[in-house]
Amino acid sequence: MIETKKRLSSDILSAALTVYGNSDLNADTVFEMLEYPPDKSMGDLALPCFKLSRTFRRSPVEIALKLAENIDSSVISEATALNGYLNFKISKNYFAGKVVSRILSEKERYGGSDVGAGKTVVLDYSSPNVAKPFHIGHLGTTVIGHSLKKLHEFAGYKCIGINYLGDWGTQFGKLIVAYRKWGDKKLIEDGGIDKLVELYVKFHEEAEKDESLNDMARAEFHKLEAQDEENIALWKWFLKISLIEYSKTYKQLGIEFDNYSGESYFYGDKKDLPIKILREKGLLKVDDGASIVDLSEYNMPPCLILKSDGSSIYAIRDIASAFWRKEEFNFDKSIYVTSAGQSVHFAQFFKVIELMGMEWADRLVHVPYGTVSINGSKLATRTGNVILLKDLFAMAIDKVAAVILEKNPNLENKEEIAESVGVGAIVFYYLSNNRIRDINFMLEDALSFEGNTGPYVQYTYARTCSILSKANSLVENVSLNITCEEENELVQVLSRFPEKVSEAIEQYEPSVVTRYILELAGSFNRFYHNCKILGAENEETVNVRLALTKAVNITLGNALELICLRKTEKI
Ligand code: ARG
Repeated sequence: MIETKKRLSSDILSAALTVYGNSDLNADTVFEMLEYPPDKSMGDLALPCFKLSRTFRRSPVEIALKLAENIDSSVISEATALNGYLNFKISKNYFAGKVVSRILSEKERYGGSDVGAGKTVVLDYSSPNVAKPFHIGHLGTTVIGHSLKKLHEFAGYKCIGINYLGDWGTQFGKLIVAYRKWGDKKLIEDGGIDKLVELYVKFHEEAEKDESLNDMARAEFHKLEAQDEENIALWKWFLKISLIEYSKTYKQLGIEFDNYSGESYFYGDKKDLPIKILREKGLLKVDDGASIVDLSEYNMPPCLILKSDGSSIYAIRDIASAFWRKEEFNFDKSIYVTSAGQSVHFAQFFKVIELMGMEWADRLVHVPYGTVSINGSKLATRTGNVILLKDLFAMAIDKVAAVILEKNPNLENKEEIAESVGVGAIVFYYLSNNRIRDINFMLEDALSFEGNTGPYVQYTYARTCSILSKANSLVENVSLNITCEEENELVQVLSRFPEKVSEAIEQYEPSVVTRYILELAGSFNRFYHNCKILGAENEETVNVRLALTKAVNITLGNALELICLRKTEKI
C-alpha cells in the first residue's frame, strides 16, 4: 500500500498545481494526510481537505470538488468529493499488478523484511527435562519457539535457538540410585529413553514405601555435583540416550538448535559472578539457611537462589545463563517459551536481574502458553495420562500412510510425505489456537483430514504445484486485468501477508500465521472452483490466473515454513 499511496500523493500534488498553481505543498505532506475511510464503501483511501484549506485559502468542500475534477492517476478507478473529503477507489488492476509482481520478484523473501537487520535474538525453547517423558505438553514450547525463531529470521534478525536442557537436578540422584538397584545396561541401550523413564517411575513407587531411597538419591546428586567420576559418567550416558531420542522428534519437525547449553552448564562457577553482584548490592537474604531475594515489594514470592547446603537451584541457573547469553551473544532480545505455569518464575528472575542493575533486564521476554489436556482430562505423569510426542506423531503418520495407500497408491516417496503430512497435522492443529488459551487436544479432531486442518492446507499447496507443473510457461510480466471477484479477493488476501508476519512477531503469536494460511487457502480454493485456470476463455486470462496461482504458491509456501510445516509438492 505504501507504494500505491506514494504514487497517489504525487498525482494529487499535480492536480493541486493545475488548479491552484504553485504552493509549498509537497508529496510527502500529502502522503501523511491520506487516511483510510471508516467505511470501505466510501473508498480505499481518503484525503481530508480541511488540512489543505490554509494552504489554498479555500473551503474544504471546494478543494475536494476541484481536485476530484482534475486528478489523473493510474492508481485509482474513481475519485469522489464528499463533505470536504476526497475519496479514492484504488484501481483493482493497478493493485493486483503491484502485489503479484512484488511476490513473483521477492519469491521466498515475500512477507519478510529487514527490520531486524543487525539485531540478535536468543530463543530458549523446547528444553525438555532429561529422563522425564517428552510428551504432548512439550509440543507448545517446541513449535511456538521454533516458529518464533523462523518469524524473527524472516524479519532479518540474527537468531540463536537454545535448547536449555533440564539436565541437572535431584532427578539424576534418583536415576543413579534406580539404575544401580534395578537397571540393566543392555536393556537401556536397546530400549532408550523409555527405559530411563521406567526407572524413574519405579524409583517414585519404591520411595513411597521406603523413605531412605530419597536420602540416597540426594547423596548421589551431591556426589554428582562434586564431580564424582562414576556418577558423571552415568549422567553423561543418560544424557546421550535422551538426546538420541529427542533428535528423532526434532528431525521430524525439521528443527535444529544452535546451542545445547543446558542447566548443567550453569550450576558451577558460571553462577559466581551473579552471586557476587547479588551480595555486593545487598540483595541476598538468609532465610532458614537458604539464600533468597525478597520480592515482597513487587508482590511476588521470594526468589530462592541457593539452598541451605549452598547448592544451586532453577532460578540461579537461569540467572547465570542469562548473564552468559548476554556475554556470548549480546542479544537485543532474549525470548523464553514455556507453559504459563512458569510465569512467576520468569517474573521473579527478570526482576532480580533488574534489581542487580543490569540495563539489559528489559530485553528479557517470557512467552507463555496455556495448558494441554487430552480428550478432556489433564495430563498427569503419575496416572499415566500422558501421550509421548513420538507416539502422537507415529499415530498421525500411520493414519496418513493408510489414506495415501487407499487414495494414491502410486505416489512416490510415500513415507516421506506421510511424515510431512502426519506431523504437519498435529503442528497445525496445535498452532491454530491463540497460544495462551488452554487447549483440549482431541485426538480425533487433530487427526481428521476434513475442514481447517494441516492436511487441507498442505493439499492446497500441492494443488498449486500441480497446476503450475501442467502450465507450458509462466509469463511473468502480465498486465493484470482482473476479470472476476474471486481474483480480486485473492489479491487482497495475498497483499496482507507482510502485515500478518509483523503482527505475529509483535504479539509473539504464530497462530496469526496459521489463521492467515486458512484464509489464503480458502480464497484460493474458491478461485480454483469458480474460475477455470488452464482452461480459461483466452490466453490473457490463463496468464493472469497462472500468475496468481504462482503468487499463492510462493506465499503459502513461505507461510507454511514459518509454522514448521513442510511444503508438500505432491500428496
Ligand atoms: N526444563 C524446563 C521444563 O521442562 C523448561 C526450561 C525453560 N527455560 C528456562 N530457561 N527456564 O519445565
